[in-house]
Amino acid sequence: MADKKRFEQPKVDSDTVAELSKKLLEANAKLKEAELERKLMLENISHDLRAPLTAIRSAIDYLKAKDEKEGLTVSSKDLSDMLRLIDNRALTLEVLVQDLFYLTSIESGREELKLQRVPIGQFLEEYFFAAQIDERYSGRNLLLEIPEDDDSFVSIDIGKMSRVLDNLFTNARKYSEDGSDITLGMGRYGDNVRFFVRDTGAGIPKEEVSHIFERTYRVSKSRTPEGETSSGLGLSIVKSIVDQHGGRVWCESNLGEGSCFFVELPVV
Ligand SMILES: Nc1ncnc2c1ncn2[C@@H]1O[C@H](COP(=O)(O)OP(=O)(O)OP(=O)(O)O)[C@@H](O)[C@H]1O
Ligand SMILES: [Mg+2]
Repeated sequence: MADKKRFEQPKVDSDTVAELSKKLLEANAKLKEAELERKLMLENISHDLRAPLTAIRSAIDYLKAKDEKEGLTVSSKDLSDMLRLIDNRALTLEVLVQDLFYLTSIESGREELKLQRVPIGQFLEEYFFAAQIDERYSGRNLLLEIPEDDDSFVSIDIGKMSRVLDNLFTNARKYSEDGSDITLGMGRYGDNVRFFVRDTGAGIPKEEVSHIFERTYRVSKSRTPEGETSSGLGLSIVKSIVDQHGGRVWCESNLGEGSCFFVELPVV
């Protein structure tokens, strides 16, 4: 019978053991953090799904009770009030579910980027001209700050990067008043380009700025203007798309003065 092979214990000095256990502990802490974030997101989403559903259920119960008591004689005023309410809350649900689907499909890698080499200045200018004739922004002063001699190219998925701009522009409009400025600008910084969307709106409290890219985080529900739907996922979608492009996104804001969102991308 052949000799059993003997394996020597690898020699590991105590410094390496200490280093490895430190890394393990760090990885464990990161996992716990991610798990906590996931739990919080689920909690927020369940809450956000429940609120409009409860309103829809109440409207239906009200109409059913009326119908049982009085037959099909609900007044047309009652009916149209209830219909408006159901319509509005169903829209909230639709936006939330659509945004959730979009976010999870980017993060799971199901949505691959269709990258194209694009002159960033021209891409931003085209977006700006479309926004100028978009009636949603008719109450705002739209301004453009793009250096004339810029010839930087970036590698982007045009549809996804337009979604980033849509979300930043929608926020700039949503959290500012009529007559405010919204500026789209860019600059070159070494091997990167940086574009920004700046508004002169409500601004964000200092202690909240670092949280706004978290999923479903909203500074305060009461800040969402009447008639606007909001899932709180807009900036998470922005961050996921920018991350997927190997870029970074951040915000600088002063309460009462306005906010500026920067997106930095490598030039190619
Ligand atoms: N330009 C801005 N000015 C002031 N506050 C902002 C601005 N952009 C974002 N915020 C704050 O950050 C929060 C998160 O923004 P985010 O876009 O993720 O969600 P939302 O606008 O509430 O909902 P939606 O998912 O519909 O975009 C907002 O609720 C708002 O409080
Ligand atoms: Mg938003």
